[in-house]
Amino acid sequence: MKTPSLSTRPPGFTYKGSSLFVEKISADTLTERFGTPLYVYSTAALRERYAIFDRAFKRVPHSVCYSVKANSNLSILRMLAKMGSGFDVVSGGELERVLTVDRKAAKKVVFSGVGKQAPEMDAAIHAGILLFNIESESELELLAERSAKLRKKTRIAFRVNPDVPAETHPYISTGLREHKFGVPITDAPLLYAQAASHKWLEPVGVSVHIGSQITDVAPFGATMERVANLVRNLRAQGHDIRLVDAGGGLGITYRDGASDLKTFEHSVRKYSGALLPPLKNLGVQLLLEPGRSIVGPAGALLTRVLYCKQNGRKTFLIVDAAMNDLIRPSLYGAHHEIVPAKIEKGASMTVDIVGPVCETGDFFARDRELPALSEGGTLAILDAGAYGMALASNYNTRPKAAEVLVDGSKAKLIRRRETYKDLLAAER
Ligand code: LLP
Repeated sequence: MKTPSLSTRPPGFTYKGSSLFVEKISADTLTERFGTPLYVYSTAALRERYAIFDRAFKRVPHSVCYSVKANSNLSILRMLAKMGSGFDVVSGGELERVLTVDRKAAKKVVFSGVGKQAPEMDAAIHAGILLFNIESESELELLAERSAKLRKKTRIAFRVNPDVPAETHPYISTGLREHKFGVPITDAPLLYAQAASHKWLEPVGVSVHIGSQITDVAPFGATMERVANLVRNLRAQGHDIRLVDAGGGLGITYRDGASDLKTFEHSVRKYSGALLPPLKNLGVQLLLEPGRSIVGPAGALLTRVLYCKQNGRKTFLIVDAAMNDLIRPSLYGAHHEIVPAKIEKGASMTVDIVGPVCETGDFFARDRELPALSEGGTLAILDAGAYGMALASNYNTRPKAAEVLVDGSKAKLIRRRETYKDLLAAER
């Protein structure tokens, strides 16, 4: 196996001499101050990535509706709201987060998900969100009932399933006929007619989302071709379709070497280059729901090496973060680059990096070649800003990590570390 290079993720994560810095603060300073495991985010990286994404669509009327599920910390949502972002939510809880941050952001909220319940619908109707993405006929009927009850016009799109394959992990691919998501695109004309027969529903859009961590942009283009045809069909039937929601899903480079902003700009341009041509001349407003591509490389998980142990031929680094803090390697076999906070002198070593949780699946890397590292040293698990803290749990009764947002030489605690008291609070 090759020795990993220590190239990192500018502008957020870079080396100065032998020390890893998050913007202008060393990772070691952060862990001394806030402890480990610690999620750290770079304001500059977040801002720049949002701006790059937004800019790639400047030629057309569009709204970026950041996908809250990727990282739902209030401070991050607030920052994005201030930059003008809208939000994609999939639960009443996520809606509550957005409204907590900025009540006015409701008008830029889209609500997706296959299992919306009446109280969640009511909250979203009350808030006056931009769009419901409906995923079944039964849901349509319930939403019609709730809107009539509240006497509020509700804008809807159907999330159509385009039956376009996209290469990604099977757990996060969503655009095929056999997936639970959306309605078959061929059923759409009937469903829109049914929606239009409801006085309090206004079918104004078409929505899709074909999956996540998709790095080849061709499936996005193929999907938009199908969506554009549907829009033309629906308009011919008399529906006033003004919105196309393209979903999220643009992948990032988890493997070493290419997560700088230039590479990102290039990849978003390719993405917009695939999405836009099929929509040309339709005059729709385009909604985009990026999650990972905005926050993924803007965050890292810092963790301390507790023990180094040798079992037979294998060397294990046991760290203080675990699968409950970052489940992606255990759940999807996902690769994250892992680099030391301080480069030490000495021979590199091949190790498994594992957590303290009582499962063999509790690992961050297997047979990974790392620079020399001693017990007590800190590692940074990179590209952990998306679906890291958002998927964290309290498994093994482990308190959730703290989160810190770094802005230049300032570090702000945006979620305090949980205590045992927090963990027991809801129980009898
Ligand atoms: N819109 C909808 C309707 C979605 O279901 C998702 C993600 C997104 C937008 C945002 O997709 P993104 O731009 O982040 O790819 N936990 C997995 C990813 C699950 C994605 C679920 N849906 C992971 O860690 O890879």
